[in-house]
Amino acid sequence: VPEPSSVLDSINISGTAISQLCKDPDMKPIGACRTCLVEIEGVRGYPASCSTPISQGMKISTTGNKLDLIRKSVLELTAGMVHSDKDDYKELSRVMESNSISGQVWKSRSREETDASNPIFNIAMDSCILCGRCAQACQTGHQFIGAIDVLGTSNQARIGTFMDKPLLESICTTCGQCLSVCPTGAISTKVEPAVIERTVTTTCPYCGVGCGIKAQVTSDDTIVEMLDDPENDSSLGMLCVKGRFGYTFVHHEDRLTEPLVRRNGSLQRATWDEALDFIADKLLAYEGDSFATLCSAKATNEDGYIQQKFSRLVMQSNHIDHCTRLCHSPSVEAMLASLGSGATSNSYIDYEEAGCLVIIGSDANSNHPVAASRMRSAVVERGAKLIVINPRRIDMCDYADIWLRPRPGTDVALL
Ligand code: SF4
Ligand code: SF4
Ligand code: FES
Repeated sequence: VPEPSSVLDSINISGTAISQLCKDPDMKPIGACRTCLVEIEGVRGYPASCSTPISQGMKISTTGNKLDLIRKSVLELTAGMVHSDKDDYKELSRVMESNSISGQVWKSRSREETDASNPIFNIAMDSCILCGRCAQACQTGHQFIGAIDVLGTSNQARIGTFMDKPLLESICTTCGQCLSVCPTGAISTKVEPAVIERTVTTTCPYCGVGCGIKAQVTSDDTIVEMLDDPENDSSLGMLCVKGRFGYTFVHHEDRLTEPLVRRNGSLQRATWDEALDFIADKLLAYEGDSFATLCSAKATNEDGYIQQKFSRLVMQSNHIDHCTRLCHSPSVEAMLASLGSGATSNSYIDYEEAGCLVIIGSDANSNHPVAASRMRSAVVERGAKLIVINPRRIDMCDYADIWLRPRPGTDVALL
C-alpha cells in the first residue's frame, strides 16, 4: 500500500469487506462510527482500522467471535438511531444486511425536524446516524464552506447550521457535497431518484474548471442525476451547484434539438441539409469585407481554428473576433510581456501550494466555485495569505488577509 496508509486502506485494497460508515474514500478518517473495528496481533482492544496507521508485519483480523459480536452491537446501536418510514438506508442497510442484522433492536430517541428549507434537498435527522461525513465534506474534506456541523452533544447531537438556522438562511451554496457523501440518505434530493440504466462520465459544461461529472441516465436516455467524479484531477470529487444540479436544460422543452428555418414568417423544422443549403445561399451575398465572425469562449480550440479558416478562406474576410479578446485581451498582453504566455500559467495544485494568493477582479466563488474551494483550502489548511482586489465585496473576502477596494477603472494605477 502507498505510504501513509491506514489499516482500513490496506483492508480495502485486499478486497476484504468491512463496514466503514463514517469513512469517505476521498476524505480523512473521522473515527465516529466504530464499525470498522479490527483485531491486531499484539495490540490491546479493537482499534478502528480507519484511524490506525498500517505498518510492516502487522497481523490484522477483520473477523473473530468477540470482534463480530462487538461490531454487531455497534451496528445495532447505529441502526437504532434511525426511525423514518423508509426501508432503504443505502450504505447503512447494506452493512446491516452483510452483518446479518434484520430490524431494529433499539428504539430511536425522538429526532429533530427535517430541514426542508433548501429547494433541492432535505436534511432528515430521523435518518441520520451522526457519522459526520456531511459536515466534513462541507468543511475541510472538500468544499471549505462550513455551512453545517454537528451541533450539540449526547442525545442533543444533530446536524445543523450556525445559530441553528434553516439551511436556506445559512452560507450553504447548495453544492450538494454533503448529499453525495451521506451513507444513509438522510441528506437526499426532494425528488426520488429514478432507476439508472447507465452512467456517462464526461466534463461539466459550465465554467472553465472542467470538473468531472458522471451523468446518471435512465433507459429512455434521460439524465436524472449528476454525480461527482473523484478520479477527475480538476475537481477531485467536488462539484458546485451548477454542475451537480443544473442539468435539466438538457431535456428542457425550450431547447433547440433540430434546425429551424424561417419560412413565411414562422420558424419551421428542417433537415440539416436544408438548413445548411439555406445558410450557404444567404452567405454568398456577404463575401469579403461585409462578413465578420465572433466566436464564443465556450467553443473548443479546434472550433476556433475552423472559425478563422472558414472566415479567411471561404468568406474571404479577416474580420475575425472572439469574446475573450474583449474581456481577456489586457491580461493576455500583460501575461505575454511578463510571463511569456497569454494562457494560464499554473495548475490548480499550485493554488493549494501557494504561500500567497492574489485574486484581482474575479469573484471566484461564483465564477469558478471548485477552483475557489482549492484556494480556501490553501488559506484554511496551510495558512496561505490571501489578498482580494475588488471594488465589490465578494465571499472570498471572508478568507482574505487584505481586501483592497480600488475605484472602478483604477486597476492599472494600483498595479
Ligand atoms: S450543499 Fe454544500 S455548502 Fe450546503 S451544506 Fe452541503 S456541502 Fe455545505
Ligand atoms: S446527515 Fe448523513 S452524512 Fe450527515 S451525519 Fe447524518 S448520516 Fe452522516
Ligand atoms: S469508518 Fe472507522 S470509525 Fe467509522
